[in-house]
Amino acid sequence: MNAITANQVSARFDIQPAKEPLSSEERAKRMQNPGFGKVFSEHMIVIPYNEETGWGKGVLKPYGPIVLDPAASVLHYGQAIFEGFKAYKQPDGSIKTFRPEANAHRFNASARRLAMPELPVDLFVEAADLLITQEQAWVPDAVGESLYLRPLMIATEAALGVRASKEYLFILIASPSGAYFPQGVKPVTVWISENYVRAAPGGTGSAKCAGNYAASLVAQKEAKAEGCDQVVWLDAVHRRYIEEMGGMNIFFVYKENGETIVATPVLTGTLLPGVTRLTLLDLAKKLGFRAEERRISVDDWAEALRNGTMTEAFACGTAAVITPIGTVKSAHGEWKVNGGETGPVASKLREALLNLQHGVDPDPNGWMHKVC
Ligand code: COI
Repeated sequence: MNAITANQVSARFDIQPAKEPLSSEERAKRMQNPGFGKVFSEHMIVIPYNEETGWGKGVLKPYGPIVLDPAASVLHYGQAIFEGFKAYKQPDGSIKTFRPEANAHRFNASARRLAMPELPVDLFVEAADLLITQEQAWVPDAVGESLYLRPLMIATEAALGVRASKEYLFILIASPSGAYFPQGVKPVTVWISENYVRAAPGGTGSAKCAGNYAASLVAQKEAKAEGCDQVVWLDAVHRRYIEEMGGMNIFFVYKENGETIVATPVLTGTLLPGVTRLTLLDLAKKLGFRAEERRISVDDWAEALRNGTMTEAFACGTAAVITPIGTVKSAHGEWKVNGGETGPVASKLREALLNLQHGVDPDPNGWMHKVC
């Protein structure tokens, strides 16, 4: 496969590739055991926005630092949003992304909540296709590995008045990635936080904005201090209903009257509407399970584990795909889930999702988007 040719590029981008590309040996070295978010490809895309002129011409250029005025409003008032999705090598050597339009739409929902401009969905997808085509040698081959795309938008106007910025940058970078958690898909231990909340009604919980993640870190530290890997968030009003695990959506598996139920907390406006969450609800049905969105309280969780109706729990997201939960701890006790082991439903769903994304299984919903 070749990198970008002139007729693949629309008038919306200038192409300024690196003058000295990395050798294939050096690239292979960097792509060995990439982990998550530590290795970056050679190029990035930047598109400027100005309130008067709208979105300007994008540029594909060598990956590198960006220059910001110290008064840029993102540094003070935090207008910053991001997305995450992946490009996968297919059995025929082509490259496809998974539901990129869904990420583009969520990016715009986040932009609206943060009073930032929306990026046309086709421009979001074209930018990703362009970068991936340029960086196709950075897409790993192995199942479970992919090229992680990280689009973001920041407010760049130098202005200290508290108001929406009039200037922004859309930036897209790419990172070859393997397992998100260093231990791979081994079950995690979670801490149910009672001291902190992630999101309140009317807040920014359903937006993928930087501030949500900044505000989560102290609770994550608390979880670590309690000997746990991850924090589980409860709702802000009743402080009872399970919302998310860390930055991921959460699922519970029940056996009720001989039926397997795959349930996830219903979207209340305070949860992130995950693309993986939505996909798993569909895949669960295809695998013959009943898929449900429910309100699940921490007491329900403990009781269902005690009486054996809950057989598994796991978290899901683009980065880590599916992460089983093996142990649940809170200030009131500790429970094992499925004896602390990965359960069969989580394994089946993970396999079905990865097989779809890597082109091993058919794609009846047309979720895979061919890039090159
Ligand atoms: C994901 O699960 O894909 C996330 O959004 C986590 C990410 C912030 C690393």
